[in-house]
Amino acid sequence: MRFETRAVHAGHRIDPSTGSVAPPIHLSTTFARDEASAPLGGHTYVRESNPNQEQLEEALFPLEGGEAALVFASGMAAGIAVLQALPPGSHVLFPGDVYYGFRVAAEEFLPNWGIRSDLVDMTDLGALAAAIRPETRLIWLETPSNPLLQVVDLERATALARQAGAVAVVDNTFATPVLQRPLELGADVVLHSTTKYFGGHSDVQGGALVFARRDELWERIAHLRHVLGAVASPFNDWLVLRGLRTLACRMAAQSASGLAVARALEALPGVSAVHYPGLPSHPGHEIARRQMSGFGAMLSFRAAGGREAALRAVGRARLFTRATSLGGVESLIEHRATSEGSGSRTPQELIRLSIGLEHPDDLIEDLKQALS
Ligand SMILES: Cc1ncc(COP(=O)(O)O)c(C=O)c1O
Repeated sequence: MRFETRAVHAGHRIDPSTGSVAPPIHLSTTFARDEASAPLGGHTYVRESNPNQEQLEEALFPLEGGEAALVFASGMAAGIAVLQALPPGSHVLFPGDVYYGFRVAAEEFLPNWGIRSDLVDMTDLGALAAAIRPETRLIWLETPSNPLLQVVDLERATALARQAGAVAVVDNTFATPVLQRPLELGADVVLHSTTKYFGGHSDVQGGALVFARRDELWERIAHLRHVLGAVASPFNDWLVLRGLRTLACRMAAQSASGLAVARALEALPGVSAVHYPGLPSHPGHEIARRQMSGFGAMLSFRAAGGREAALRAVGRARLFTRATSLGGVESLIEHRATSEGSGSRTPQELIRLSIGLEHPDDLIEDLKQALS
């Protein structure tokens, strides 16, 4: 079955009690047992498992080509659960341009859990190989990265992880499985902030892990979620499932517009660089062509006039909404360093765009006037 069909049908079932085609939302926090105290419907308590969570997980893992999925209250909660599953004394490698929330977590929290970490430029596989230590248990990959859209060769980076006996986790939030399937390229776990493209409408927060194997790691993280409690609400799971049904066509349209906007930006005088893996000028373009079927709807660019010019352009946008986050139907623009706040390492002249479902020509006109 092809991806688009799976996205519509995975985990879908007609509700047996009512015949409803759209899934019901089960808000019950507790579930009845029979006379022998066995759970009547397979669930006991909402934090352990519940019907909406189960249905979303059943829909998710076939899309990434995995064997199991676990969903969480946010993308951060999903990623942190993987790190919490590591034994004390572990060493973790993060990419230099890792989503800043994980960099902050690595600096402020991981040491308290007995975990050491380093940032390494993973676009340089020699640097990645050199940074691996005997106690490296996990290699974290993010491609394309947030916000510099760096591209890492997944096949080669996951091979290095395998050789080192480390788990390879790939944050696939920007690409989604519509454009890139890291498990097919050797990853062990795929991470998503489902707040973004899976939800797709800027109205739900969630996170997900998809596992190549239904193995001991999956079991440990499922137990950890149950005990530590980073579960999503049934309503949020329902919203993410609804978004997932239209993911394939939204990504195709948004990705096509992303390419059109990136090409137009490259020709504008106020722009000194455009970071978009679909442009031949991008240093990771050839790798992106190999491992992605499209280049996505996220891009960033640098204002030639520096921080002040970037802030001015963002302030002049009319059609783009000035807001952080990504993956919704409406296009967003942000001065990234301002959004990340103090401690940001993002270049001050960088503007990040999330391209939505508007006509790309309208978006390009808005950027032209904003930068004029
Ligand atoms: C690439 C990436 N990973 C993870 C996250 C964290 O997701 P959430 O905000 O759902 O916790 C984000 C959020 O922006 C992100 O962009």
